[in-house]
Amino acid sequence: MNTNIGSESANCEALAAATGLKPETLAKADKIVAKYPQKRSATLPLLHIAQEELGYVTDAAMKWIAAKLEIEPINVYEVVTFYPMFRLNPIGKRHVKVCRTLSCALRGSYKTMEALEAEFGCKRGETSADGNVTLEFVECLACCGTGPVVQVDHLLYEKVTPESVPALAEKIRASLTDPDYGKKAPTFGDRTEWLG
Ligand code: FES
Repeated sequence: MNTNIGSESANCEALAAATGLKPETLAKADKIVAKYPQKRSATLPLLHIAQEELGYVTDAAMKWIAAKLEIEPINVYEVVTFYPMFRLNPIGKRHVKVCRTLSCALRGSYKTMEALEAEFGCKRGETSADGNVTLEFVECLACCGTGPVVQVDHLLYEKVTPESVPALAEKIRASLTDPDYGKKAPTFGDRTEWLG
């Protein structure tokens, strides 16, 4: 019989509190873990919900996930560093991803990236000096027929040419002071507004 169950649970609760995650996120984590016969199988979904809320995977989040799944923190760290979608450092308030896979590249996504770099004054892989925007190249965003495709947080923008980058940059800047930003369910492509 494991007589440490009480202290392990208290430890896990303390680690959960240290993450700064919302109670609803922690409750969601409980539901996710319950779906898996092997707790460690929940590593990826827990990392996703932690990063979703915190902006990146913090040390505290990795320790909490390890305790919750009864694995070692190094096991969580290995997963985080294996997959490129996980981040170990904070990013800007808006995450701007430009597709560089073949269709978008042929349709000019490298030029689109250059225009975004000039617009926000930072290079790909960097965050602007004001901390507002992080620019990143990514692989296919599954909208290959209407490239170049740019994803800003959860919104996808199609046919973003260098000429249309200033308008997109304006939308991004406006979103920074929009109190309702992110409260609505993401709209695929923001398509009507963008192309209309
Ligand atoms: S190649 Fe860019 S969305 Fe698929």
